[in-house]
This record gives sequence, structure tokens and C-alpha cells, in this order.
Amino acid sequence: MNMRTLLCVNTDEVWCPPPQLSSLGWHICLVSSPQEAFSLYAQQGPRVGLVLLSEGSAEALEALFRQTCGTMIWVALVPPHLLAQPRMQELLLNYCFDYHSLPAGDDRLLAVLGHAFGIACLRGNTLRPCDHGKESGGLIGNSPAMQQAMGRVERLARVDSSVILQGESGTGKELVARQIHRQSVRADGPFIAINCGAIPPSLIQSELFGHEKGAFTGAWRRHIGCVEMAHRGVLFLDEIGDLPLSMQVNLLRFLQERTIVRVGGVEPIEVDIRVIAATNRSLDQEMAQGHFRADLFYRLCVLDLALPPLRERGEDIMLLAQYFLTKMGGILNPQVQGFTACATRQMLQYHWPGNVRELKNRLERALVLCDGHRIDHQHLGLSLPQAEGGIRPLNLVRAEAECEAVRRALVLCGNNVTEAARHLGISRLTLYRVLERSTPPLPPEAQLS
Ligand SMILES: Nc1ncnc2c1ncn2[C@@H]1O[C@H](COP(=O)(O)OP(=O)(O)OP(=O)(O)O)[C@@H](O)[C@H]1O
Ligand SMILES: [Mg+2]
Repeated sequence: MNMRTLLCVNTDEVWCPPPQLSSLGWHICLVSSPQEAFSLYAQQGPRVGLVLLSEGSAEALEALFRQTCGTMIWVALVPPHLLAQPRMQELLLNYCFDYHSLPAGDDRLLAVLGHAFGIACLRGNTLRPCDHGKESGGLIGNSPAMQQAMGRVERLARVDSSVILQGESGTGKELVARQIHRQSVRADGPFIAINCGAIPPSLIQSELFGHEKGAFTGAWRRHIGCVEMAHRGVLFLDEIGDLPLSMQVNLLRFLQERTIVRVGGVEPIEVDIRVIAATNRSLDQEMAQGHFRADLFYRLCVLDLALPPLRERGEDIMLLAQYFLTKMGGILNPQVQGFTACATRQMLQYHWPGNVRELKNRLERALVLCDGHRIDHQHLGLSLPQAEGGIRPLNLVRAEAECEAVRRALVLCGNNVTEAARHLGISRLTLYRVLERSTPPLPPEAQLS
């Protein structure tokens, strides 16, 4: 982005940006909260941010800084009384290029912002603006929905309360649970996962809490259960909605008392764990139908996170597709470099009932089947519904509108890619990506320069 866009986050009313900024060529986007700032960042990709630190905004600002600092440079304005606060000092040291205590001299501020913009442009040559969130512990996603989820993961990792993760099958609940564990104070402790739906009801008690030798026929030695194994770590209760009612009482008792007794044992054993539970069912509905205990739900659901289905993540579909292609392609089929326009279009249009897991599995299959350089639609085997009543998926409409805009710009700029990209306010790389997806492909005689 060549325009000098300044993202001003004014969390308090005590300050307003110097009027000279506009005459110096700055385009100012003024927002009043870190949340608004993030959505503007996602839309416009500014390079420089000016933020007024205020009491109570530290957590939200840190999340904003973390998500944007790969591609933005931040300058802070600090009310003098906040400068002495260790939390504010930490933010300044970790994320800000420079700061001024208020009142800030306009001239000095303008000079610093100019300097910040220069540095941001230099960095811009080596950074790809919207790819910053690309990999965060294996969790891929740039869509606003996923960025929001990732921000929440970070916050969930900082506390020790129980969490419920909700989302359709294959949306990444286990991946997120592992991420929370990895980023938390329990990272050095174990992460023990148990699938409540996959164990016969008669064995669940012993699987969770363990048993003593001779507790029942076949218990020929002591068995340590998952809860005990997860001591000082995280217990991941997958498919919690499938836990039989009788076991729900036992789990509730454990959560209240934080001690267990092994089956056939007498001694209570203290266990220190954090519980993360996941479900792809609606627990509200399960509770209404009397299949899930409300008291257990409220114990578990101190915090929650809902993962969006893949079809609602827009461009993440292609980001993930490319990620899996790179990850698996090297082993399965190194000659495959990308996707045909038709494959891309179908992937954006498909409903993805099995979400990210389905995408990954279909790509694995496609890599095995593909004998060219690009995965085509027939390798993916997606069955697409006919468009109903003229309503078309937003992903597709968006992708087509982008292609159209790029084509038009190229025509107007005589196929000069650099010029077209400049007018569109995107990088050459982004322009090529959009072109790659377009159908019909650009005519071969078009000489792009
Ligand atoms: N955002 C993501 N980025 C990269 N890989 C992902 C992402 N989300 C999911 N995956 C991958 O997709 C697969 C399914 O994820 P996971 O097992 O965490 O889903 P789940 O929600 O627990 O599914 P289920 O409800 O069926 O148990 C895994 O291989 C995981 O690594
Ligand atoms: Mg799972």
C-alpha cells in the first residue's frame, strides 16, 4: 500500500490527531477500540498505527499488537501517569517502535510517524501483508472469524479455567485444545485426550479414574486413569456430549472436589488438572432434552470458543489448501504445484460438511490421483449442489468480483502488472494469485510486464 494510511486508535477522548497530518499526505482512519482497529487492519492493511494507551485497554491492545505487529509499526501516546505502570511499559517495550507521553509535541510526533512509515515500507518488501497469521502453532487462518478465534485462544491460554470448544466435526477443536495447552503455564505438563464417545460405557469409569488390581474381573493390575495421568497438565475430553449421564455425575464430583478415587480403591487422590472439553453437538439442545446435566455444563463452560465452519472462512479455504499441498505434496507428489482455476472455484463453492479434515483428506487423495502439475476438479471429487434460487456462495461472488477488477485494471494499464497492482492497491504477488484463480484463464497472448 503506497498511500500513507495511519490507523489511529483513540481509546480515550482526551486527544485528537494533529491537523497537519492530512496536509502531509496521511490518510487517517480513526477508530475508538482495538476491536475496530483490527477489523480496519484486516480490510485496509495500513502500515503505521498510532495508539493512545488508556487504563483498562492493555489486554485488548496486546491482542491487537500481536496480530498486527508482523506487518505494522506502532507508535504509542501515553498519559504520564500510565508510564510508570509495568504492564504499559511491557507493551511499549514489546510492541512499539516509539512512544510519546502526553501532551505530545506535534512536530516531533509527525517526524516519528514519517520515520515509522519509512521503516514499514522497507519491511514491506520482505513481508507479505495479509499472511501474518498464517501459521500460529499449526493453526492456519487469516479470515476475520479465524483471527478472532486465534486471539481468543491466546486469552484462554493465559488463564486456568475450564473451556468448552464447540464446532462442527473437523473444524480444529483438538488442534485448538493442544494450542491452548502449549501456550499455557501447563505446557510442560501432559496433554491427555480421551474420546468420551469411543469408549464402551462399562469402561469409562475405569478409563477416566483408573482402577486398583482386582477391582473387577480382568483387573489383573493397577490401572492409572486419564484424569490422574493428566496431573499438572490438561485433560481433553473430546465429544463430551457423548458422556453417559451416569458418568456425568462422577465427572461433576471430580470437578468440584478435585480428587478422585480409583475403581476398587478407597484413598482419595488429589489431582491438579485443567479440563478442556469439546463437542460438535449443541449442548443447549442436549440439556433441553435431558441428555446433558446443566450443572456439569456450567462447571465446564467457564470459558468457551466456537470454531467457525470452513465454508464461513472465505479465502482461508485456499490458504489451507495451499498449506496442505505444500505439507503433503513433497512426499506424495512433488510435481504438483497448485490448483486449476476450476478446482479453485469448486473448492470455494463447496459446502465442506467435514470442514478442514475433509479438505485435508480430499487433497491427500487428489495428490495421489493427479498426474499433472495442477490439481484439477476431477481429482477432488466434490459434489456441488445446483445454485438454489439464484443465491450463490459469497466466497464465489467475491472471488469473481476480484478477478473482474483485476482483468479490468490490466486492460486499462495495457497489461502492465506493476501499474495495475498499484492502481488496485495490492501487491504484484496478490494480483498474480487472483489471476491464477480466474476463469477463463488470461489469454496467453497477453504479455504481462
Ligand atoms: N485452522 C487449521 N489449520 C491447520 N490445520 C487444521 C486447522 N483446523 C483443523 N486442522 C486440521 O484438520 C484436522 C481436523 O482437526 P481436529 O481433529 O482438531 O478437528 P475436530 O474439530 O477435533 O474434529 P472432530 O469434531 O471430528 O473431532 C486435523 O488434521 C487438524 O490438524
Ligand atoms: Mg476432535
